[in-house]
Amino acid sequence: MTGVDWAALQQAATDVAARAYAPYSGFHVGAAGLADDGRLLVGCNVENAGYGVTLCAECGLVSQLHATGGGRLTHFVCVNGDGEVIMPCGRCRQILYEAGGPDLELQTPEGVRTMDQVLPLAFGPDDLT
Ligand code: THU
Repeated sequence: MTGVDWAALQQAATDVAARAYAPYSGFHVGAAGLADDGRLLVGCNVENAGYGVTLCAECGLVSQLHATGGGRLTHFVCVNGDGEVIMPCGRCRQILYEAGGPDLELQTPEGVRTMDQVLPLAFGPDDLT
């Protein structure tokens, strides 16, 4: 896909970050992405009194991908509560790799990168065949 409106995607992530449930860390995260049919997907972090049970914003986004028809994730960005682009945590890079594969494009603080660049030598579905 060409001509992706990264600014609009970042704005969608910023909007959903306002809905994060983050009473423990106070750190809001919003994620936005596109599916291969153009669907807009979003997610926000949802914390829990059992801190380790917290759901990252990416979990909600990938859940929405599947709940609304499946397909592949093609573009992704996540932001903090101020709308600044942040990097997905290590666990979420693995989750994003499953949903989008090595060619998934991510906006990062240093520009657009592929999933293969932010999770090199990844373990993935091909390793199970
Ligand atoms: N968080 C995310 O939602 N995604 C990430 O990729 C990084 C971390 C959340 C989890 C927790 O609610 C808060 O940010 C602080 O770690």
